[in-house]
Parts: sequence; C-alpha cells; structure tokens
Amino acid sequence: LISRNVNVQLPSHRYEVRIQPGLLESVGDFVKKLPGVSSIVIVSDSNVADLYGKPLLESLARRDLEANLLSFQAGEQHKTLSTCSEMFDRLFSLEPALDRSSLLITLGGGVPGDLGGFLAATALRGIRFLQCPTSLLAAVDASTGGKTGVDHAAGKNLIGAFHQPVGVLIDPLCLKSLPSEEFKSGLAECVKHAVIRSADLMELLESRRKQMLCLDPEAMTELIAANVQIKADVVVADEREQSLRAILNYGHTFGHAFETLMGYGQVTHGQAVAWGMLAANCVAVSRGLLDEAAADRVARLLGALGLSTRPGKFEIDDIWARMLHDKKTRSGRVMLILPSAIGSAEIFNDLSREEVARAMEKLWGE
Ligand SMILES: NC(=O)c1ccc[n+]([C@@H]2O[C@H](COP(=O)([O-])OP(=O)(O)OC[C@H]3O[C@@H](n4cnc5c(N)ncnc54)[C@H](O)[C@@H]3O)[C@@H](O)[C@H]2O)c1
Ligand SMILES: [Zn+2]
Repeated sequence: LISRNVNVQLPSHRYEVRIQPGLLESVGDFVKKLPGVSSIVIVSDSNVADLYGKPLLESLARRDLEANLLSFQAGEQHKTLSTCSEMFDRLFSLEPALDRSSLLITLGGGVPGDLGGFLAATALRGIRFLQCPTSLLAAVDASTGGKTGVDHAAGKNLIGAFHQPVGVLIDPLCLKSLPSEEFKSGLAECVKHAVIRSADLMELLESRRKQMLCLDPEAMTELIAANVQIKADVVVADEREQSLRAILNYGHTFGHAFETLMGYGQVTHGQAVAWGMLAANCVAVSRGLLDEAAADRVARLLGALGLSTRPGKFEIDDIWARMLHDKKTRSGRVMLILPSAIGSAEIFNDLSREEVARAMEKLWGE
C-alpha cells in the first residue's frame, strides 16, 4: 500500500504529516499512541461531519477511544469569532470536561482546520490538536505550518495564533466527495508551490495531470506529499514568516484583491490565486525577471488543470485600493512575490499601480 511521510522539524516541536489512502480508518491507531490523552473532541463543518464524522468516530472506537463531534455551518463566512464563541460554549459544557490533556481533532477543509486550530491554541491557553484535512487545499497547504485563526469584517485571517499540530493525517480517498471547483482550487495552490520552489513538482503536475484529475490514489498521494514537503521546508526555515515564508504568498497579492472584489463565495480562493499568479507573472515578465516562455508554461498548466486563465473585470483603482488595504502592505508598500524561473521566486515590496494596470490589461487582452 502506498504511503508517504513528511517530517516537520521545528526548533521547539516536531511532527509528522502522513499521507495514505484509507488513513481515516487508522486515526484511532495514531491517537492511541499519543501520551496521556484525557478526552477527545472533533471539530468539523456541517458538510464534512455528515460525510466523515461517523467513519472517524468508528476509527477511534475500534481503539476504545470515545470522542465528541462538534460541527458548525460550512463556509468561509462562518470562520469568525462568533462561531468560536459558540464552539467555546459547547467545548466547555462537554462531558468529560475539556482539560489541558484533551485532544482536539480538526476534520475538514481549511476552514475547520484554521478555526479548530485556533480553538485549540486558545482554549485553556492551548491544548494539543491533530489535523485531518479533507479538502485538497487543506491537504497541500493549510494543514501544515501552524497558522490558525479566523476572519474579521476588516479582513481575512486577521485574528489568529501560531499553534503547531501534533500531527497531520491525510486520506486522499476523502477527496472523492470534494466538489470539482474545490478540487481545482487546491490544484492552484499546488501550481503555486511548483513555481516558487520546485521545477520537479511542475513536471509532476504536467506529466501526471490525467491521473490526478481522476483522483488516482497513488498520483494523489505523490502530489500531496510533494506539496507538503515544500510547505514544510519553507515553514521550518521561517516558522513565523519573518522572511522566506512570505514566498508562499505568490499569487495572493492580486488573488486576495480579486477574491474580495468578487465577494467571498463567488470565486474559489484557488481560482483567485490562479489569476493572481498570472498577473504576478506579467509583472515579472515586464520587469525582465521571468522569460515569457516560463510564464506561458504556467498559464498552460493552469488551463489544463481546468482553471480559468482570464480574470474577471474590475476597476484598476479598486484592485489597487484592496492591495493597499492588505495586512501584508506596510506604509503604502505593496508586497509582491515574483518568480524568476520555474522553481524560484523572490519577495518585492515595490509594486506600483501602473504595473497593476499593465498586467491586468494584458490578461484581459486589451
Ligand atoms: N493556515 C494556513 O496556513 C492556511 C493556508 C491556506 C489557506 N488557509 C485557509 O483555508 C481556508 C480555505 O480552505 P478550503 O478551501 O479547504 O475551505 P473549506 O474548509 O471551506 O472547504 C471548502 C468546501 O469543501 C467542503 N469540503 C471539504 N472537504 C470535503 C470533502 N472531502 N468532501 C466534500 N466536501 C468537502 C467544505 O465543507 C466546504 O464547503 C481559508 O479560510 C484559508 O484562509 C489557511
Ligand atoms: Zn492560498
């Protein structure tokens, strides 16, 4: 049976990310080996709880482990402090009561992962948590790295904490039920990792595209492991995003602007990031940093993966205003990650409104 492990070796803490088809059935085995777990609570969203709550509870029960399953309404719009507040009410009325030795398991996409991780980071000043990501985006990106948090009306992910999980268990078979738009959203983040860090991953995405698109378990295990390895390397080098970790924001300067301008729920995060990568590539080409052929190659791959390569229409001033509002913008300097070749990228803080206009006009074909 195919299986991959990626080690995340941080100065203060190490954990393993395991990727294996059918792994959901073995979560109980993993939990059984954790020392001194007093009680277990699972945090999920309404969609995923219906699909995988029971299999997870059964996997725990096979090792004589009991757990409470708490779920909240699915969707980014529920990744809020008010959902946290409701969840705290429920967490603190559990039987047996939550204590410092309790384990919280997040089950779902990046929303339950981030929100559940934040509950674990803050309940009783921090309890252990285990990530069981079920969306491709959560598997390849959100579940590894220890960023947890929720959104605020003023912006995405503005409230949060760094809190590393005790492990990440990824079952690629869970992707079978994922809506295709969500699957493509995750693929966009895979392309992001390839462009900023790995020409090998770029080749893997190009050569095994067909197997991936039909969710071949072996191809998916390979793909997820390659992405987690990249994410882990970057996080280990710079856990708190003082420098290198910022390259993971490739495609996100433009992407976040598109996402907010369209309104959450109107476009997937990954689709917005895909447009954002294309826009960043235009800037990189016009600065003479990236050759046109490499930019074309990225666009071809995104298209072949089923992502749109033509951004929606917005006013340049609106895009620019969103960028100036981003939490990564400091004193009017807009951060932008630009690739210099497939597999390497650099961080810049000097994007101009004119460059935004030129990139968008090129992508809109004007
Ligand atoms: N912490 C980090 O480092 C990090 C990194 C990237 C993204 N994120 C966060 O991740 C979130 C996006 O993650 P997401 O795209 O997974 O969102 P999500 O959790 O909302 O999942 C997307 C949709 O797919 C459903 N779903 C998930 N798994 C499923 C499955 N196996 N079968 C059927 N339906 C399933 C969910 O119920 C939801 O409706 C954002 O909030 C983003 O900020 C965090
Ligand atoms: Zn992203």
